[in-house]
Amino acid sequence: MCGIVGYIGKNQDIRMGIEALRRLEYRGYDSAGAAWYNSDKKDIFLVKKAGRIDNLEKAIQESNLVSSGNPFILHTRWATHGGVDDINAHPHSDCKNEIFLVHNGIIENYQELKEKLIKEGHKFCSQCDTEVLSHLIEKYFQGNLEEAVRKALKEVRGTYGLAVISKKDPGKLVAARLSSPLLLGINQDEILVASDPSAVITHTRQVINLDDNEIAVLKPENFFILKEKPVIQIEWTAEEAQKGDYPHFMLKEIMEEPEAIENAIRGRLIPEEGQVKLGGLSSVEKKLREINRLLLVACGTASYAARTGEYMLEEYAGIPTEIDIGSEFRYRKPIVDKKTAAIFISQSGETADTLAALREMKEKGTMALGITNAVGSTQSRETDAGVYTRSGPEIAVASTKAFIGQLITLALLTVYFGRQRDMALVMGQRIVSELAKLPELARKVLKQAPEIEKIAKKYKDCKNFWFIGRKYNYPMAMEGALKLKEISYLHAEGVASGELKHGALALIDENFPTIVISPSDSVYEKTISNIQEIKARKGPIIAIATEGNEEIKNLVDDVIYIPKTLEMLTPILSVIPLHLFAYYTAVALGKDIDKPRNLAKSVTVE
Ligand code: AGP
Repeated sequence: MCGIVGYIGKNQDIRMGIEALRRLEYRGYDSAGAAWYNSDKKDIFLVKKAGRIDNLEKAIQESNLVSSGNPFILHTRWATHGGVDDINAHPHSDCKNEIFLVHNGIIENYQELKEKLIKEGHKFCSQCDTEVLSHLIEKYFQGNLEEAVRKALKEVRGTYGLAVISKKDPGKLVAARLSSPLLLGINQDEILVASDPSAVITHTRQVINLDDNEIAVLKPENFFILKEKPVIQIEWTAEEAQKGDYPHFMLKEIMEEPEAIENAIRGRLIPEEGQVKLGGLSSVEKKLREINRLLLVACGTASYAARTGEYMLEEYAGIPTEIDIGSEFRYRKPIVDKKTAAIFISQSGETADTLAALREMKEKGTMALGITNAVGSTQSRETDAGVYTRSGPEIAVASTKAFIGQLITLALLTVYFGRQRDMALVMGQRIVSELAKLPELARKVLKQAPEIEKIAKKYKDCKNFWFIGRKYNYPMAMEGALKLKEISYLHAEGVASGELKHGALALIDENFPTIVISPSDSVYEKTISNIQEIKARKGPIIAIATEGNEEIKNLVDDVIYIPKTLEMLTPILSVIPLHLFAYYTAVALGKDIDKPRNLAKSVTVE
């Protein structure tokens, strides 16, 4: 949520910063801005513009402001406080235009601080909460920027990742973090600060994650943080975070779903033992044998993976499992004991609500496990142990391949917990062998992309959609609906098939299609009854069915087939057409696929 780039080193050209900022645009794209030190003029220049980074780049080109020098700081915004306009865009500065900063997060006591600062004579020009930080730093500035930042932050309540420069203390960039991700990219003759590794990847793969309450002082030749910190290697390459020949990141990432499965299972299946190897859990393996209850906590799409995990873990591992969304869990009074473990699921590992729930559980002494895609993320650092999904960088705001990675990881965990308990060898072997077949089966589903595109075009003018499913595929109904609304802005809801008759059916008519997820599983016949109920009310139906099911063609309007697999693994195949359906519908409607309105990747504010 919002993107920060800061740079100090050999490069003198702000266009380098713009290039890095572009790789963060998926984090927020309401407005963008840059401030850079010009060493000839001994001054800091500022340009900021509402809209996309293209607008900022154009404004910089037209400004005739020479960029020869650094440090520079840049920001791409997802608005929280203050409208989407040039003034509220970052960087923000103090009264004398000497201190400039970019900020991610929310200053919760900004109103109170602002009133105080106004009384002291400070002049504000924006409605943005961030502006209080620049005035606070101005208040405490006596020639040393980091000292002023340190004093200012003592007065602040809320969350921040920030990068600050001052023309009165040049040759230095100060970065600080509290509950909003920030890392340093370390390279020869240059140091970058960024809210996300994608920004630094073309410069360096060596990063250091800042921890909460840490302040880093960056100079061209070195950096200073109070604590000795490990350098982490980014595991993916810059190329992996490029669109390549695909028109959108989302399509590329859907097409990478088979690979996401392969990566998640690589080296982890032990077929003969019907077991899986999860290195990230080895330190807690013994303790996990004692666990008799699981809590799964996540937000958005990841929460649908959690919900699927609940069915898997209860049916095959026999562990009572409860799921909740992070934003609610943090305000509940969860009843936990020493035999409870909580599993937090997050692609980014930076989702504020999920992290808050994690911290609440840690506070209670509950074992916290993580499933994340982001190596070195806050979640991965704060959990006791965990499993990486290894899905590779996901850039589109709508999560697809990372979701598949989460489902696979939950299936692996099911075998892991199950085999620690009552799961028979043959059952473990069966799940493991079906998991190994999934990449090929997923490829088969993707081959139907042209047909799914035709179906999407056929229904694109409908304004409302139900997605229904039962058991393992109920969460997929919610996932399909979320994806469609996120990127096409059509109204869609995921409903448990059995709930239709309790209300949702009232809306069905010839213009209200339903996507029915109906693989040939243990609840297939029940789902067929739902299909009949919808048809009796003239509702159009698109069915996701198992290959070989010819009968269903006579009951519904359109069918998309998925290959046969174990019931518990059907969601991994049934969700692929749902991702494609959402994608092609949004394309047919001419929407901004990778950067849907009002949203941003990674929600780092509450
Ligand atoms: C998915 O398409 C969404 N953009 C969103 O629901 C996302 O899954 C949610 O914000 C959780 O993100 P996380 O996995 O990074 O925690």
